[in-house]
Order: sequence, then C-alpha cells, then structure tokens
Amino acid sequence: MPSIKIAPSILASDFSRLGEEVKAVINAGADMIHLDVMDGHFAPNITFGPAVVTSLRQHSTVPMDVHLMISDPMAYVEDFANAGADIISFHVEATAHPIRIIDKIKELGCQAGIVLNPGTPEEDIEFIAEHIDMVLIMTVNPGFGGQAFIPDMVRKIENVRAMMGDRDVEVDGGIDASSAAEVIAAGANVLVAGSYIFQQESYFEAIESLRPVG
Ligand code: DX5
Ligand code: ZN
Repeated sequence: MPSIKIAPSILASDFSRLGEEVKAVINAGADMIHLDVMDGHFAPNITFGPAVVTSLRQHSTVPMDVHLMISDPMAYVEDFANAGADIISFHVEATAHPIRIIDKIKELGCQAGIVLNPGTPEEDIEFIAEHIDMVLIMTVNPGFGGQAFIPDMVRKIENVRAMMGDRDVEVDGGIDASSAAEVIAAGANVLVAGSYIFQQESYFEAIESLRPVG
C-alpha cells in the first residue's frame, strides 16, 4: 500500500487567517492541503474559488489537493490548474463524460482524482479506474465539515483499494483517530480531516494521532 498521507481540510480553519493556518498545519506535518470548492449547486454550501487557491499556493510547500464539489467541473479545471492545484478531483455524479475531464486535468499537468458520494457505488468507475491517479471516497455527504463518518463506506474503501492497486485512495468526512484506524485497515492511504484537526490546540498531535501506530 502507498504511504499514509494526512490532508487537513482548510474548510474547518479560521478563514480570517487562512495563510497562517496553512503554514501551521504544514509545520505540524501535513502531507497535503485539502481545498473544498463548493458552488451552492452541486453541494448545498458555497466556499471559495481559484483566487483563494492562488493566494494560498505561496504559503504551501506541500501539494494542493483541490476537491471540486461543483456542477460543471470541466468549465473550471483550467482555472484551478493555473491557480496552482497539484491534484484536481471532481465528482463522477457531476458529469456524463468523466474521461474527458480526466484527460483535460492531465493535459494541464495535474493529477486527476474521481470522487464518489456515499450513495454512489464503486462500480460506476470500474471501467475508467485505469485512467485515474486517485479515487476519493466521501465518508459523509458533501457540504459541511463536522458530520459523522458513515460506517458502510468501509466496504467501499476495501473494494476501491482492490481496484486501484498501489495508487492513492483518499477518504473525506468524519475522520478522527478512531475512524482513521478503520479506514487505513480497509485500504485508504490519504486521509482528509477538517474539524478533527482544526479544533485541537496542537495540530501536530492531531495529525500524529491519525497516523497508524508503530
Ligand atoms: C465535506 C468536505 C470535507 C470536509 C471534511 O463536504 O468535502 O473535506 O471539510 O470535514 P470534517 O473532517 O470536519 O468531516
Ligand atoms: Zn473534501
């Protein structure tokens, strides 16, 4: 299995000090920065767009992991690539032609990820899996931080790991020290965590507690 990476989601950080928050989690050992983009249409919330990614890029020495929860990903992937995204993930539910978007993301020099909502079966990506750098399995429904981990997703993680071999399998939503152990055992290797990390005083201890023991 590829190495375990922790990707703090800045959705739970103090938006009035975004640059400082990004630096603080990187100093605390973050392996990536996870950026949740929502358009108020695909997901029932509105967050931020490429301009914020451009501003944060200069504060980041680790990969920028952009999670697009938007209805028309094809229209915006170029903007996010230009903003400095390293990985761009979009929802399979948002398009009839995922391969076209995957190809576009790669052409732009980024890694391409596909995201599955909790209600979407892994079979939906079975025949395109060979083209993807990463699969992101939502372990809550998109929209907000602080929701409870959906235990049924453990089975999906196991199946997606079998599909992806040694490529990245990311999980997002309700990750804390206890669900982290479960998802790692099931085969996830990239763990997004928002409220669990940013609600703790020590970001270092929070991030360390998500990594496997030993
Ligand atoms: C949810 C977002 C997540 C969110 C996770 O729509 O995709 O990345 O920030 O937040 P927590 O870790 O608080 O569940
Ligand atoms: Zn996310």
